[in-house]
Amino acid sequence: MKKTILTGLRPTGNLHLGHYFGAGKTWRDIQDDYDFYLEIADVQALTDNFNNPEKVRINVYEITKDLLAIGLDPEKVHFFIQSKIPEIAELTVFYSNLVTVSRLQRNPTVKTEIAQKKELFGNDGESITYGFLGYPVSQAADITAFQGEVVPVGEDQLPLLEQCREIVRKFNSIYGETLIEPQQLLSTSPRVKGLDGNDKMGKSLGNAIYLVDDEETIQKKIMGAVTDPSKIKKDDPANPDICMVYYYHKLVNQEENLKTICQECKNGSRGCVQCKRELIEKMNEFLKPIQEKRKFYEEHPEEVNRILEKGTRDAKVKAEETMKKVRNALRIDY
Ligand code: TRP
Repeated sequence: MKKTILTGLRPTGNLHLGHYFGAGKTWRDIQDDYDFYLEIADVQALTDNFNNPEKVRINVYEITKDLLAIGLDPEKVHFFIQSKIPEIAELTVFYSNLVTVSRLQRNPTVKTEIAQKKELFGNDGESITYGFLGYPVSQAADITAFQGEVVPVGEDQLPLLEQCREIVRKFNSIYGETLIEPQQLLSTSPRVKGLDGNDKMGKSLGNAIYLVDDEETIQKKIMGAVTDPSKIKKDDPANPDICMVYYYHKLVNQEENLKTICQECKNGSRGCVQCKRELIEKMNEFLKPIQEKRKFYEEHPEEVNRILEKGTRDAKVKAEETMKKVRNALRIDY
């Protein structure tokens, strides 16, 4: 029997290279080994986009197409929409009794996010909503509703998984062994830096390459990428290790070319413009098969709907099973 894996993502924008190398690629590589539930977390996205529901709706479909385009196989992965599984919301209510407000306020991921969302939640988080503060509880419901045994996560999500485990342990200790305590599958790939050299690639930072970017956009973005600032003239020697162009060469160019690029950069026989042109070509080569696959789904929205409906039906079966056990444990199985 394959183990059950569950992961999710917030539909708030298209996938970029950071998502691909940090998560999507791994998901694709492990899809044969697990019974894989992939949640398009629209309810969670609404916790900090409650004033923009249309954005979330559009991105449910955008993200699904991106994920299909990178090669997640709908025959293997159950793609589902969070809001279509009301059991998750139900579980959230019962789990919320098992978490203190101060524990949520101390959750490092939540703390970081509140600090990043001053516009929404105020300078010191004084306007934090009940919904956003409680999203880790809802995420615990996401995981346990499908009896997720393994959760692939990046470093930033670990505190949420720890919070989930605490809830599971508390639930089981009060109401009897009912829920599965999930294990993490920690991503080993380092975070992808932005075009500007920032440690993180992100939409709000304006430094991302998206899987849907066309050739013109790629050209513009890569031409503006940050290189070694000490290199002024074409023939100046430079340090590839502080150059974002070389950094992206390492992601999308073939191993055998990297040595040459590195050497030429160091000895001053490679100009940045030529180096960027080569990267543009390699980047487009890398994106092409993904975009071709995506095109099929763009032209067949009914297929995307069918995939989401089927995955949601599978997910619903699992969640109903869990809900039955939970109702029983809570003595509310009237
Ligand atoms: N919080 C995750 C993110 O921001 C998305 C998510 C929702 C998730 N539900 C999940 C991740 C369940 C892992 C498991 O990317």
